[in-house]
Amino acid sequence: MATLLLASISLAATLTHLAQLVSARACLQDTHALAAFKDTIWEDPRRRTRDWRPLSNISATDADLEGEDGCRWRGIACTRRTYEVPGNPFPCQRVLEIEMGGMYCPQNMFLPEAMQETSGRGCIRSDVSGWLVPELGNLTFVKKFHLSDNNLNGTLPPELGRLEYLEEFDIEYSKITGTIPEEYGGMTRVKEFDFEGLQLTGTIPKSFSQLQYLEELEFDGNRLTGCIPELSPTIQSLELEGNDLSGPCSAVGSGEGADADSNAGFFFGDEDDLYGGYDSWGGDGWE
Ligand SMILES: *[C@@H]1O[C@H](CO)[C@@H](O)[C@H](O)[C@H]1NC(C)=O
Ligand SMILES: *[C@@H]1O[C@H](CO)[C@@H](O)[C@H](O)[C@H]1NC(C)=O
Ligand SMILES: *[C@@H]1O[C@H](CO)[C@@H](O)[C@H](O)[C@H]1NC(C)=O
Repeated sequence: MATLLLASISLAATLTHLAQLVSARACLQDTHALAAFKDTIWEDPRRRTRDWRPLSNISATDADLEGEDGCRWRGIACTRRTYEVPGNPFPCQRVLEIEMGGMYCPQNMFLPEAMQETSGRGCIRSDVSGWLVPELGNLTFVKKFHLSDNNLNGTLPPELGRLEYLEEFDIEYSKITGTIPEEYGGMTRVKEFDFEGLQLTGTIPKSFSQLQYLEELEFDGNRLTGCIPELSPTIQSLELEGNDLSGPCSAVGSGEGADADSNAGFFFGDEDDLYGGYDSWGGDGWE
């Protein structure tokens, strides 16, 4: 009898533990941010966000938001463990990645991944139409935004500057306009900005000098002007062609062909355009 009682107590404990694991879900602020983004999406031909619930379709009370779990939505990856988050009524998971872009290449499916990306033949863009909302700045644990090859319009929300764990921000080949917010210097762990082929104007923020882990800055094919701030020596790839940049801000003297600040890993090209990066010497893929 006693044994049976003990056994059922430990079974109950195990079930409670399991129930906690199964019921773990995204923090309300994270689901809210994703739902606010989903609200802007008016076309999604590849159904990348087909199971995301738009905020306008969730009534404003927390009780309704609690019924949703952004961590189970397509293309979202979350932390395994849960966190006590102020204002959240239950321990919850944080969003780590949004995977909602890139090229799908049915003909190249059997090629190595790197080759799939470079040979664009037979590839289909992700083509989600919508825009980035300020609420995405509430995904404060996020490490990766992979949103390339979409039709995102609007501007870059300054609120994303709060994403201090963001490492990869890839939104290349969209229709985003406006300037790069100075606040993005607050993304202290960022390694990659892939902003190629947008319609950005204005200057590269001075605050980018603070980004000490920066490895890749791809800003080619925009309409950026002004000078280039000194960048971390960790930089490996700097692509700035097709803009109207004047050269390094800190350069002493100027002129075509002048060797720019070598610490920053860039140099002048033949045209007014700048290109370079330590890896590019003798490498391929450079014009
Ligand atoms: C909105 O919610 C209702 C019921 O909750 C659901 O049937 C409908 O498909 C939802 N619409 C969208 C666009 O998600
Ligand atoms: C999320 O971000 C928006 C806009 O930046 C803000 O107004 C809102 O209070 C935030 N929501 C939560 C739940 O933190
Ligand atoms: C994006 O484009 C759509 C369609 O033209 C438009 O309705 C919407 O207002 C635009 N969004 C922003 C943020 O400019």
